[in-house]
Amino acid sequence: MTLLDGKQTSKEIKEEIKTTVSEMKARGERVPHLAAVLVGDDGASLTYVGSKVRSCEYVGFDSTLIRLEADISESTLLKQIDQLNRDDTLDGYIVQLPLPKHINEEKILLAIDPNKDVDGFHPANFGRMALELDAFIPATPFGIMQLLERYKVPTSGKHCVVVGRSHIVGRPISILMSQKGTAGNATVTVAHSRTENLADLTRQADIIVMALGIPEYLTADMVKEGVVIIDVGITRVADQSHPKGYVIRGDVAFDEVAEKASFITPVPGGVGPMTIAMLLKNTLLARQWNLT
Ligand code: GUN
Repeated sequence: MTLLDGKQTSKEIKEEIKTTVSEMKARGERVPHLAAVLVGDDGASLTYVGSKVRSCEYVGFDSTLIRLEADISESTLLKQIDQLNRDDTLDGYIVQLPLPKHINEEKILLAIDPNKDVDGFHPANFGRMALELDAFIPATPFGIMQLLERYKVPTSGKHCVVVGRSHIVGRPISILMSQKGTAGNATVTVAHSRTENLADLTRQADIIVMALGIPEYLTADMVKEGVVIIDVGITRVADQSHPKGYVIRGDVAFDEVAEKASFITPVPGGVGPMTIAMLLKNTLLARQWNLT
């Protein structure tokens, strides 16, 4: 069994980006610039955005954090988005989700210039991705593809079962894995909460992508020998024996499934750390494509 080590792989990707940025600097070019918009003071969002900004500094990007009050009106936020769209010094930006309930998330995401949408959430980027054009691919599916590629996991002709159909993980990964190219060419089945006899499907799978959000749902009896497991789940499960009062669990019963797997991502330390690295990669691409 090989562990698909996202912590290590994301470090390698950050080092590659850092090298590219220092070469840009040496040539006298402007370095990539990422901005993050954070509305309100949700603890988890603050943590995520904080580590995105720190990662920018680490690789040598310019970064800007824009903090806005939780009670900001939708129209004021849209004005802020318009300013960011027009800012020539900015290669890309993200609006951290979730947004307060009085703001229509879809309306905000649609207002982001697709050329600066390094989260890849705009329909224009989703469509471009589906048509195999240059596009910003959402960080989680992009990170999964990188792990499969870098560990040379065989995917061509294999049966991949994706469990989950969300717009930012299940749906895009199902498209990417069926496309031509490295870590692609798989035969993909998309399963979800309404799927009947899920275990019959997962037992036939050569590769399983779990993106359901139910801790330790996939057990050893549901998989075949030699299966490749990608676990996207990150659920906080109460555990008073832990200083934080919780532990992070994936969608896979790791210990028992690992015994049958050929490759498996741990939780934490698998898909999770890859997401920030891929956001940085998208920002670098935005700079290199010079779209603005
Ligand atoms: N909230 C949780 N994950 C993400 C992400 O990848 N991008 C944004 N913008 N918000 C998030």
